[in-house]
Amino acid sequence: MVKVAPSLLAADLRVIGAEIERMAAAGADQLHFDVMDGSFVPNITFGSGICKAAARGPLPVDAHLMVEHPETQVENFAQAGAKIITIHAEAGGHLHRTLALIREHGCLAGLALNPGTSPDCLRYLLPSLDLVLVMTVNPGFGGQKMIPECLDKIAEIRAMLDRAGSKAMLEVDGGANTVTAAEMMRRGADVIVAGSALFGADDAKAFISSLRASWRQLHPEENA
Ligand code: DX5
Ligand code: ZN
Repeated sequence: MVKVAPSLLAADLRVIGAEIERMAAAGADQLHFDVMDGSFVPNITFGSGICKAAARGPLPVDAHLMVEHPETQVENFAQAGAKIITIHAEAGGHLHRTLALIREHGCLAGLALNPGTSPDCLRYLLPSLDLVLVMTVNPGFGGQKMIPECLDKIAEIRAMLDRAGSKAMLEVDGGANTVTAAEMMRRGADVIVAGSALFGADDAKAFISSLRASWRQLHPEENA
């Protein structure tokens, strides 16, 4: 079954705790926690202090590090209680080492690819990965429209993971709504990040149920 990861960026930040509880009650699986450093991307968001507070809530934290030097942040976010730490393929030269460091800290290791980045970079890293994050917008801001050209990349990576027998999750991030998420799942996504569309929905539970219904249509074997 698809996992749904609400992006905290789109929450009402005056009441973060209540927003996380609201998403858990709506059926979300993990909390997508966008960390931006104002250098890798133009925006600055949350640090490990907020992560620590968020991790005390009911959802496991999936930390998406949009930072220039992720190796300097792994320990901070692991100690802050993140369960998944995802770094960017475009940040830093020692991806293999940083992914190993994430696992050494007891977290699941993820690698994110910007829209312009080829899946080729995954080739020698597959055994080091518990998650691949395909960006379907340019990172830095919530509320953008999905870039449709990125959909083919999801399918390409799905095939790559299956061929390698990898059990890594395939997470997709950017512009997900009930229509675009179905397109992402059709290409093989099994974790959907949803920010503005989910937090802005009149009924968050209905939004998540709709994603699960699309998943069941695409995977009738799981209904048996
Ligand atoms: C963008 C972030 C996303 C973003 C998703 O840089 O990585 O996680 O918050 O938000 P929506 O769903 O609004 O595109
Ligand atoms: Zn993100």
